[in-house]
Order: sequence, then C-alpha cells, then structure tokens
Amino acid sequence: MNFVKRFFGIALCALSFLANAGAAEKPVSFYNDLVPVMKRSCTGCHHPGKLKGELDVTTYAAFLKGGKHGAGFKAGEPTNSMIIEEISGDEPSMPKEGDALSKTEVALFTRWIVEGARDDTPTNANSFKFTEPPTYAKAPVISALAFSPDGKQLPCPAITKF
Ligand code: HEC
Repeated sequence: MNFVKRFFGIALCALSFLANAGAAEKPVSFYNDLVPVMKRSCTGCHHPGKLKGELDVTTYAAFLKGGKHGAGFKAGEPTNSMIIEEISGDEPSMPKEGDALSKTEVALFTRWIVEGARDDTPTNANSFKFTEPPTYAKAPVISALAFSPDGKQLPCPAITKF
C-alpha cells in the first residue's frame, strides 16, 4: 500500500512539474520573434512599394488584412491561416525565393496564432528618432533655410563635428 501511495505521489509530482513547465513557456512575441523573420524573408516582396499577391507584411494591421485571397491569419486557427499554409509543408510556397523558414520558425508562427495572434508592436516602433544630434563627416549641404515666424531664429542642421 505504501509503495502504491509513493508511486502515485511521484507520478503526481512529475505531472505537476510538467504542467508548470508548459505554463512557464513565454508566449510568442509578434514584434520580437516574428517581425525579424519576416524582415529577413518576406518584406522584400511584401511591402507597400512591392505588393506581391497584394500583401503587405510590414505592419500587424496590413498583415492581418492580408492579400488577394483574404486575411493573412486567423487568431486561434492556425489551420485556417494563410500564412501557415504558405510557409509550411515539404515544399513551402513562401518565401517565393530564398531559403524556406526553419521548422522552429514555422512552429513560432503557429504557436503565436494558437496563443491568440496578439499585436505587441510598440507604439513608437516605426517612428524615426534621433537620440542625439547627428555627427557629420563633411560639412553638410544646406538646401533650405527658413526663419521662424517671428524672424528671430534661423534653423539650420545641428552640426556638432566635421
Ligand atoms: C521573391 C518574392 C517573394 C518573397 C521573398 C515572399 N513572397 Fe509571398 N508572394 C510572392 C508572390 C509573387 C505572390 C503571389 C502569388 C504567387 O505568385 O505565388 C505571393 C503571395 C503570398 C501570399 C498569398 C497572398 C494572397 O492573398 O494571395 C502569402 C500569404 C505570402 N506570399 C506570404 C509570404 C511570406 C510569409 C513570406 C516570407 C516567409 C513571403 N511571402 C515571401 C512573392 C514573394
């Protein structure tokens, strides 16, 4: 009897450990895990200036909207998601040129859709900001100047070094 109890004890322990290990797995991040893969393998043919299949994958919204044949993906439904159909299988149709995505990458897309296909793109992701004034190697060409409306300031490029 003792042996049986102990056996079940160990089995339960192992099960709860496994369940915890599953729960601890970090959800897939659209911005950190998938966008870099798409920048490498997809955006070359699917951006606003080159819309192959009428598909733009440079933003979450455009990717969701999809291309000629509808939505790029359906949250929670990997088997109904066009992206999965295109990138998986023995001879994936996408990317049209270059290496197929690795099995690990395809699994990341699939898990992201299963997990609800959330958008975690930071709000400032596409804005282009200087954190400090640029450093010029040569004196820059000044092609335009304008006084401030009160005529007191003449803005010009912030030249720190040449
Ligand atoms: C070299 C160019 C090229 C690259 C790189 C590429 N595609 Fe495509 N893609 C196309 C073309 C062209 C089509 C139009 C259908 C066709 O000719 O197969 C298309 C169509 C699609 C479609 C179907 C759109 C629709 O609604 O009909 C999806 C989804 C897609 N691509 C996803 C991807 C993904 C994801 C990647 C990256 C893993 C990728 N593509 C990389 C050229 C490319």
